[in-house]
Amino acid sequence: VAADSAALGDGPITASSRQRCAGSVVFGSNSFAIGPNVIDLSLNRPPLQPAARALRQALRALPSMRADLPLLDYASDALLERYSGAVSRWLAEACGQADTDPRSIIGSNGARAGLALCLDALLPRGGEVLCDALTYSGFKALANTRGVNLIAVELDEQGCRPDALAAAAKRSGARTWLACLSLQNPLGVTASAARRLELAAVAESLDLQVIEDDVYAALLPPMQRAPTLAELIPERCWQVGSVSKAIAPALGAGWVRAPMAHADALRARSYAQGQLVGAWNAQVFVGLVESGQAQRVCEDMRAELKARHAIARDILGTDSLLPGAGPAPHLWLPLAQGRAVRLRARLLEQGVCLTDPGASNLDVSAAASGLRVCIGAATSGAELGKALLIMRTPLKRLDT
Ligand SMILES: Cc1ncc(COP(=O)(O)O)c(C=O)c1O
Repeated sequence: VAADSAALGDGPITASSRQRCAGSVVFGSNSFAIGPNVIDLSLNRPPLQPAARALRQALRALPSMRADLPLLDYASDALLERYSGAVSRWLAEACGQADTDPRSIIGSNGARAGLALCLDALLPRGGEVLCDALTYSGFKALANTRGVNLIAVELDEQGCRPDALAAAAKRSGARTWLACLSLQNPLGVTASAARRLELAAVAESLDLQVIEDDVYAALLPPMQRAPTLAELIPERCWQVGSVSKAIAPALGAGWVRAPMAHADALRARSYAQGQLVGAWNAQVFVGLVESGQAQRVCEDMRAELKARHAIARDILGTDSLLPGAGPAPHLWLPLAQGRAVRLRARLLEQGVCLTDPGASNLDVSAAASGLRVCIGAATSGAELGKALLIMRTPLKRLDT
């Protein structure tokens, strides 16, 4: 099943064009295989500069190891409680999501660990998950290693389509849905408030459990925010987040906001599976939130990403980009699948590495596809500009 919007690209793909571009589909990046002079825009990392100063200060503020033995210990219940409180404050201040009860929050080692925890709780013996036809490659990998089947749901310029969700749920019988409604990966699109209400109604009428991947929420400018599924249907929504995109991935600070009735069981499972947030990560995150630094880094990150999107629009022109996409660390170039694969191979020869188009596509033979450009991964705006200038000419030529 392909993403059906014409805006997402169309056209055939051949076996030979796929072979020329042998990146890792599972990890969504082949940075281990690329040469030293290649600009790597394949991995979806945020710019690292906005957090650098705050993290240096936070690390200095960690009590010295000799004086503070708890730093060498397992995370205490008191620390984990403070961590949940800090997540609740972050959700309110950085994401505009007020009143999250800290008791519903389970700290995890990044969002991917949170997604894993939800999958294991909801589908302990495999099964099926409804999922965007183009999705986060890490989720594909998590499902794959658990024998969970992903059922593709078609997308449009606002992401997941309610009618397609309902049809796929009825056709397949799947009762778990992975939603990514803010700055969707890989398209970068955001669902409006009206679209979210429609999707929430479908989830209720078909009795779906929802894993809401909200990892990009803090990057949305306040004007573009809309109610989350966790706010609309809290009793059936397992919301997953982290600060990997808005502060820094190395922080390993993530969480699941579970339906209240399931929170204690999920906390117990996270202990059992060793997926709790680490003690040092928790300390640093709590320090950043309680000092107000986390919110400042997030504002700098939004400004940096806005500037990078302006560079992309200037160099590539708006007609190459997906209309309506927001300030994510990634952007999407809609292309026919065959052309996306050929263009990626050509760009690799010219010194720019983009994500393998097969990484996010549930149906790797689907006609509609595109190329994801991780604009956050460039080491600077200047390096991004250099890569985009290399991309501009082959992108405009129809024979690539
Ligand atoms: C949609 C989505 N969810 C989850 C993650 C993983 O987040 P983390 O690095 O916190 O594990 C990513 C990272 O690319 C992502 O794009």
